[in-house]
Formats: sequence, structure tokens, C-alpha cells
Amino acid sequence: MFARHSRRDRAGQYEKLAPRYDRLHHRWLRHAGGEAQAALEALVRALATSDMKLLDAGCGTGHLARTLIAEGMRPKSITLLDPSEAMLARCADIPVLKIKGRLEALPFEDGAFDLVTCVWALETVPDPHLALTELCRVVRPGGALCLAFCADEPARGLADCLMRQALLYRGTGQFLSCAGLVRDIESFDGFEARAIPSQGPAATVLARRTDALVQAVSRPKVELEKP
Ligand SMILES: C[S@@+](CC[C@H](N)C(=O)[O-])C[C@H]1O[C@@H](n2cnc3c(N)ncnc32)[C@H](O)[C@@H]1O
Repeated sequence: MFARHSRRDRAGQYEKLAPRYDRLHHRWLRHAGGEAQAALEALVRALATSDMKLLDAGCGTGHLARTLIAEGMRPKSITLLDPSEAMLARCADIPVLKIKGRLEALPFEDGAFDLVTCVWALETVPDPHLALTELCRVVRPGGALCLAFCADEPARGLADCLMRQALLYRGTGQFLSCAGLVRDIESFDGFEARAIPSQGPAATVLARRTDALVQAVSRPKVELEKP
């Protein structure tokens, strides 16, 4: 389960932070989260196809969508969701569907997306477990969920410590347990998850929703003879 879980709702803070967000976030990536971000982007590149349906939940200023479109993904297949109008306004140049909404109550049908991403947003919500349940719900069988988040891992050095303190002081996020999060995902029917190693107070997790039919065919139940 999630460690040091605080029930604070931070959505309003991002409304105010929007004009400064890219600058502050760039600093976080440079000093603490860069490896986890690179791991997440590598996963998304490996999994994405030009016509798949992708949801970026907690999209912020739309960094991931801009990158994917620049790399050839069709904008029609991308949906961006965020509760902050000021953050969504910063995505105005991205020609994709934008929806104001929250991770804890995603306005989509079950299994609506091939790939769901949630990048540095799960740790900002009051109830990460509920948000995770929703993120997994909208992944189609055979699809995947990629997460990057602030993790409750030992700091590597002074820069890590300072970035962690700055984030806690601003109150814009919390630090989640990576092992707890993997366990939570695997407690959902049909999901398997693994953490991608990276250093510092950040983590990347890939969760896959197994396709029930494929699994039934490829893993026949073997009855062992009793001695
Ligand atoms: C640290 S930013 C990450 C933005 C973006 N994913 C990125 O990689 O730069 C966190 C984002 O989560 C959004 N957020 C806060 N509370 C949320 C909620 N309950 N549901 C969905 N998004 C939320 C904020 O508005 C903000 O845009």
C-alpha cells in the first residue's frame, strides 16, 4: 500500500503554478526525476503505435503529447486530461482532445485506451489508490499503463534532498512507495506490474493488463498427477 499517504487535494495549487510550471519541472527533471522520465518515455516509445488510443492523465502542460506527435503519433489518437484549466490552457497548441477531469473519476468507459500514461500526477491526488484503480479500469485487455512518480526512495545526494524538500515545502506532491504501488496494481484482476530501476526519489512503473483470451490459450492449466 502507499506509504506516507496524505489526503491533501493539490489540484488548485497547479492552477496557480501553471505559468511557472515548466521552469520548475525542468529543474526537478534535471536534478532528481530525469532518469525516471527517460525510462517512461522509452517505454511509451516501445509500446506506442501511430493509431493506438492513448490517454495522458494529469497531462499538465502537455509535454508528453508534444513529444509523441513530433515523433509521428497521430494527434487523433491522443486524449489529454487534467483538472486545471490553467494547465490545459497551456496545451492549446496541441491538436488533441482535451478534457477537464480528475484521475479519481475518469470520464471514460472501461478498457477505453490501449495505453494510459500518468506522469508525475499520481502523487498529487488525495487518494492515489482510487486514482490507480481508475487508471487500470480504462486500460483495455492487452493494453498497458506507464507511470512516473515521486518515490519514497533514499536520496542520492544533496540535489536529491533539496528537490525533495522543495517539493514538500511547495506542497505540490507526496512521495509514494514504489513497491506498494506495484503490489496494489498486481492486486487488480489481470494486471502485472514491474518497476524500471532508476536512482533518486523517483520511479517508473510499467503495468500490463493481460489479455484473458491470450492467457487462456498460452497458459493451459496443467493438472499434476498425485504421487
Ligand atoms: C507535476 S504535474 C505533471 C504534469 C505532466 N504530466 C508532466 O509530466 O509535466 C501534476 C499534474 O497533475 C494534475 N492534477 C492534480 N490533481 C489531479 C487530479 N486529482 N486528477 C488529475 N490530475 C491532477 C495537476 O493539475 C498537474 O497538471
